Amino acid sequence: MIEMDDPRHARHRRIVSRAFTPRMIQRFTDDVELTAAGIVDAVADRGSCDFVAEIAARLPLKIICDLMGIDDKDQGFVFERTNRILGAEDPEYAAEPGASGATMLHAANELAALVQELARSRAARPTDDLTSALVNANIDGEKLTWQELASFFVLLVIAGNETTRNAISHGLKLLTEHPDQKALWQSDFERYAPGAVEEIVRVASPVIYMRRSLTQDYETAAGQRFKEHDKVVMVYWSANRDETVFDDPHRFDITRDPNPHVGFGAAGPHFCLGAHLARREITVMFRELFRKLPDIRAAGEPDRLQSNFINGIKRLPCEFTPTSTRTTGS
Ligand code: HEM
Repeated sequence: MIEMDDPRHARHRRIVSRAFTPRMIQRFTDDVELTAAGIVDAVADRGSCDFVAEIAARLPLKIICDLMGIDDKDQGFVFERTNRILGAEDPEYAAEPGASGATMLHAANELAALVQELARSRAARPTDDLTSALVNANIDGEKLTWQELASFFVLLVIAGNETTRNAISHGLKLLTEHPDQKALWQSDFERYAPGAVEEIVRVASPVIYMRRSLTQDYETAAGQRFKEHDKVVMVYWSANRDETVFDDPHRFDITRDPNPHVGFGAAGPHFCLGAHLARREITVMFRELFRKLPDIRAAGEPDRLQSNFINGIKRLPCEFTPTSTRTTGS
């Protein structure tokens, strides 16, 4: 879908949006709090862990899998395959050096096979999940083909997993580097949460760019001329630091207002379909962390993903006072 133009994109997005309704999302995200609580409880007594694998990655993965109706036992499989697709440029994930294309394709095909099996079962016996809604969606006689369904699923698990995970990981890193901002947020969580989440997405810019091909000649306000069919790259990371738009753009400021960042893409037909869900996941995760592990901090340098597309963190050590120590006061 992300590579389509209108009218094909509009048709596709119409079908998907009908299934991806706020009500559908709400039904599953009511569980976000419970899931986040379980994730934090699982590490709370330990005092340290890898923030990415044991905290940040787990919430978006579980939510997107529940939304699609993917069994808990297959979550590891989905996690591993999405890592390989977006991390294909990183030697840790590429099957062999220089084989990033083949690595991506193979992993995407494996995910497509998983959803086709799931879709077949939902076509026969629909449930209340998104896969059932997509398989049975019929907008003005329009349905997704099997191929379209598989492609959408692959996009959704990648877009829904890796981005939010990295936003949460960058969030901890930023809050550790800016203890004044962390203290401010903790002083009144609900008041500062909306601004803090937008600022984390702006500074982190988990998706670094998207590429487009021009459908017509165009000249920017600054006088840069492009021709039809030119390939252009929209560098969100850079736009999110545009000094003509953001006052002191390199400052991490959870009270920044307005904050017209383009971390979820600019307004337009491809604007991130999961922006609401992502904002909710980031908010809930930090609420839960501040509640149970208020002194959580990054305890070392992040291990960065080798990628020019995803601003990824593979591992990030973190430390906190274990809950048991805090509650007994010892
Ligand atoms: C912090 C988290 C996230 C970030 C930074 C992010 C960022 C983006 C960006 C930059 C785009 C491209 C916009 C464009 O091309 O104009 C996009 C599109 C998209 N995102 Fe997200 N995203 C996030 C979370 C999610 C989640 C949780 C989901 C799904 C559950 C999701 C699903 C999608 C889909 C399906 C598209 C394609 C929309 C289209 O082509 O019409 N994203 N996202």
